[in-house]
Amino acid sequence: MLSKIHHVGIVVRNLEDAYAFYRDTLGLPLGKMATVEDQGVKAALLPVGESEIELLEPISPDSGVARFLDNKGGGLHHLCFETDNIDTELQDAKDKGLRLIDRQPRNGLAGIIAFLHPQACCSVLVEYAQPVDRSEHASLLSQGRDRRFTARRLDHVVIAVKDLEGAVATYQRNFGLDREAARDVPALGLRNTFLPIGDAKIEIVTPLGDASPIGQFIDKKGEGMYLVSLDVDHLDGAVQTLADAGIKANVIRGTVGDIAMISPRHTHGVLLQLVSR
Ligand code: CO
Repeated sequence: MLSKIHHVGIVVRNLEDAYAFYRDTLGLPLGKMATVEDQGVKAALLPVGESEIELLEPISPDSGVARFLDNKGGGLHHLCFETDNIDTELQDAKDKGLRLIDRQPRNGLAGIIAFLHPQACCSVLVEYAQPVDRSEHASLLSQGRDRRFTARRLDHVVIAVKDLEGAVATYQRNFGLDREAARDVPALGLRNTFLPIGDAKIEIVTPLGDASPIGQFIDKKGEGMYLVSLDVDHLDGAVQTLADAGIKANVIRGTVGDIAMISPRHTHGVLLQLVSR
């Protein structure tokens, strides 16, 4: 069974540069770091609540991650679900006829892992991970810091698609998720549905209206992961900390609660939302 979003994978040109934002400005603790030779990456896992941000820097020019960096300029790369039994999960995917990248589980940074093909998941590269060592994560969470805000939790991940109901059905079937009712959010130019998993949600969105930013995103980049949202304890403290680092967040009050949007140019290619629940 899939229990939660284990991590969101982000491809960056340079890990050290990315730390300046994710570790120093956002304040995420820098957890496990490793070079994964067979994937051609240097990687770092930064815990946020029960989930993690995985930063990936290509170290060989012919890796999939290097091609992603060349083609898309980096940014949101894959979505990883945690499972307590990777063998069962992979067999279940095979039984459903899902297209796979890995037909057998293998060792990865997050434990024993396997990737599904993006064609099986509405253009999202999905990873399954069965963690090997749980104590490591817990010890990292206890690190205290004197900061004006703390990123407490991965709140949700947004996936932009052309066919909302088709994508929701795919995610329900593939991953056994429940759904909430679809609704229009005209102020944001989208129609959406949430699918809860663990203490986070997957939000599937489709464009609403002609000037929809979702429509512009799909036209430019194609369907796929659009945004990551982190829950913070003090939104104003976060906005001030970002300003001190030379990053102007776009604060939107009221539409869906108070949120701060950070442009991909400040985050190594990720449209990032901060929200205080
Ligand atoms: Co990963």
